[in-house]
Amino acid sequence: MSTEQAKPEHHDARVWQSAPLAAKYVNEVRVALPLAKEQIDMMHRIIAALNLGASSFLDLGCGSGILGASLLGRFGESRCVFADFSPPMLETAREALADYDGRTNFVEVDYGDPEWPAKVVGAAPFDAVVSGYSIHHQTDDRKREIYGEIFDLLSPGGVFINVEHVASATPRLEAEWNEMLTDAIFETSRANGKDTTREEVFTELVDRPDKDANILAPVEDQCVWLREIGFENVDCYLKVLELAVFGGQKAR
Ligand SMILES: C[S@@+](CC[C@H](N)C(=O)[O-])C[C@H]1O[C@@H](n2cnc3c(N)ncnc32)[C@H](O)[C@@H]1O
Repeated sequence: MSTEQAKPEHHDARVWQSAPLAAKYVNEVRVALPLAKEQIDMMHRIIAALNLGASSFLDLGCGSGILGASLLGRFGESRCVFADFSPPMLETAREALADYDGRTNFVEVDYGDPEWPAKVVGAAPFDAVVSGYSIHHQTDDRKREIYGEIFDLLSPGGVFINVEHVASATPRLEAEWNEMLTDAIFETSRANGKDTTREEVFTELVDRPDKDANILAPVEDQCVWLREIGFENVDCYLKVLELAVFGGQKAR
């Protein structure tokens, strides 16, 4: 069956189902993202501060599972569902999380389809739903609906944290973000012994195949949507140009 016919509105994001793109992102881009460690630390802090005793997680659009893996490491005895629509990404996550056998569950989910919660509801309610650089592939209307679907899957007091690629406030700031990310990827590739020039990194970055699949929204707008849905303690907890950590909590 052609899924392209069934879901034309977000077909571009399916570039992530390509194994070479998945590997390039995990090995060269993810490891270079500015403030990646601080973003994960902030995610832990907010979850621990708002939801004592968190033990059940969902990592939506998990990729290699970096966010959910950090939660399993931070919160002993916890369990995490890793959900993604890319078989090579889920395979990478499975391999990376082999040590957490018994605490993990991997599910092929396309959250562009409003029926997706049915695939994870058996493990709900979740104390926290986290998502990293993923939901921005959806239209703004669909992003908002997904935030509502996440709200419904949370336990009372449950927390949603989106570590997300958001829109620049102006074209000038977007240009500066491209320079900053180029510097970060260039430095990381040189440190890893890769023979590449900064210009090559920049060209590859602005021409990358997944860029067309991005539908970036300002973090301010997304925080408003979360409040309208009913989330409390909504804020942008950390931001560096186009990378933001934001979210909120379902009332107890
Ligand atoms: C940029 S990667 C981020 C991976 C990981 N969360 C991280 O923080 O590094 C985006 C991920 O979202 C997944 N994704 C994109 N659209 C999706 C959809 N509609 N349903 C499920 N997963 C999706 C992709 O397959 C990919 O693994």
